[in-house]
Formats: sequence, C-alpha cells, structure tokens
Amino acid sequence: MDRNNASSSSNSLINSDFRLKDIISIKQFDKRSLEKVFDAASDYKKIVDKRDLSSVLKGKVVTLLFYEPSSRTRGSFDAAVKYLGGDTIVVENPKQTASVAKGETLQDTIQTFSCFSDAIVIRHYERGAALLAASVSDKPIINAGDGIGEHPTQALPDLFTIFEKFGRLSNLKGLIAGDLKNGRTVNSLLDGLSLYKNNKLYLLAPSTLKLRDEIKKRAEKNGLKLFEIDRVENIPKDCDFWYWTRVQKERFESEAEYKKVNNKFIVTKDLLNKYAGKKTVLMHPLPRVGEIETSVDDDPRAVYFRDQIPNGLYIRMALLTLILS
Ligand code: NCD
Repeated sequence: MDRNNASSSSNSLINSDFRLKDIISIKQFDKRSLEKVFDAASDYKKIVDKRDLSSVLKGKVVTLLFYEPSSRTRGSFDAAVKYLGGDTIVVENPKQTASVAKGETLQDTIQTFSCFSDAIVIRHYERGAALLAASVSDKPIINAGDGIGEHPTQALPDLFTIFEKFGRLSNLKGLIAGDLKNGRTVNSLLDGLSLYKNNKLYLLAPSTLKLRDEIKKRAEKNGLKLFEIDRVENIPKDCDFWYWTRVQKERFESEAEYKKVNNKFIVTKDLLNKYAGKKTVLMHPLPRVGEIETSVDDDPRAVYFRDQIPNGLYIRMALLTLILS
C-alpha cells in the first residue's frame, strides 16, 4: 500500500487501521484503535517467551533518533524491533554525533534516515518536532516524546496497565502528581483517559507546576473531571491509581528554580499506607529522582517496574507490528 493512501495527513485518526501511519498523538486514537493495540500487546505478553517471532519484521529497519536521553523508551523500542526479527539504526544525541552537529535541519535528517529505514522513532526536545518530522518523511514517524508536548507510546502502556488492573478505563478515580506543567506523559495520559466516561482525576502539584491551562481546558471539554489539590492531606483515600512524575529539571531556566520545587511531594511507605487504598496502584513513567522512595518498590501496589516497563515492551511490539507488517 502506498503510504499516501494510508494517511492523508500525518496526524490523522487511526480508525483501527495502523498500516504505515504516523503515531504523533493519543488524540489520533479512538477506543477501538486503543483496544486493538491492547489486544495485540496481550497476545505478545502471552507468547513472547514461547514463540519465535523473528519473521514479523524480518528485513525491516527502524531508526531510533533520540535528541534527548532515554532508557526505557529507547531500550524497549530497540528490543521490540529485534524480538520481531527486524534491525535498528540507533542515533543517540544526534546534536553531537550526526550531521546535526554541522547545522543540518531536522527535516533533512529525517529525509536522510527515511531512505535507510521503514520507520523512524523520534524523541526531541521541541514540542511539535515529531509532527514536523512526519510532514517531510515518506516513512512512518513514531513520537517518542516531543519536549513538553506529548508521549503517546508511554500513555499506551500506562493505559494498558490500568486496563489490566481494573478491567476498564472508565469510572476511575486517579491521582496525578508532580510536574504537571512540563511532563509530557501526563498530557498524553489525560487525552487517553478522556476517551472514556466518568473519570475523576485529582491533580497534586506545586503551585508553579500546575497543569497548563490549554491542556486542562481540553481535558475538561472532553469530559474529564479535574480537581486541583495542593497537599497530600487532600488525596481521596479511594483512588484506583496514583500516577507520580518527576520534576522535569531540563525544562527549568536554572538549577535554583528547579531546586525550589523539586521533591515537594515524595511517596514514602507511610504516605502510601496513610492515603492510598489497599487496591490503589502506584504508577510512574520513570525515571524517578527521589520522588518515590525505594522502600516502596516491594509494595505489591507499586507497578512501575513490575508492569509498566514490561507492558511498554509489549505495546511497542504491538504498535510496530500493526504499523509495519
Ligand atoms: C518520560 C519522558 O521521557 O517523558 N520517560 C519515559 O519515556 N518513560 C518521563 C520523564 O522523563 O520524566
């Protein structure tokens, strides 16, 4: 199929047909499209250790172009491609290691790597970079985080993890805490949850790191009920999930500004026992830099290592299969 027939615009709705489409935003998904990725991810979760999957992406090459640091996103995309029998070109820090250092534009870099690959996964420090990349690429672009914009392939495993735990993505009560102004995973998670009915979210952030107005208005317009709180004492005790995030140091003008607000809210065993329910799941997109104490890790409610990271792999395997095979 010609890619131009598959998607007329790079940010178009998926409508359950992923073939050769760009993944720029969760806003491209409807419920059925989300469920299609979840189904494929569940299948991979069951068979990945038992079956040879090396024919799925055989002969395909995926470029991982990372202008910002990454461990889980890059590692799991790399592993996903390789489990499925494909290969990767990994370009880390292209500002220093690729022709970007000589002044090459993002558009030219993308057109170059699209000659060598079947898809490009891009992480960039500027909001809108993935969409710009998609506008010049004749191969699918997957947004692995664009500045303070979006991070759809993190929201997918986050939503999948919640779905696995509760069997639904509606009628949920959640707490989202940390840097809600700069954290892109939160923006994408809100867009995903707003596809479903009757979700209530409590937003706990330092006063200077509250959810941006534009995102808040969009979420509310799409039906999410949002409640801003500024102290842990106001966390309702019956949340289904807590989604903690780090303060995004790299988005601050100075170290001093960052230090003023860093680690204002820290999950300790005591906090969890006092304010979470017995079935509340504790999530974090990671990396954490002190905002969840390591002593909490073996609490059965803490799912960041146990579920979110492995689910990130299965979701990315599912997505690549749906887009490329
Ligand atoms: C997040 C990101 O890069 O936005 N990490 C991730 O991909 N899991 C979260 C963060 O950096 O805080």
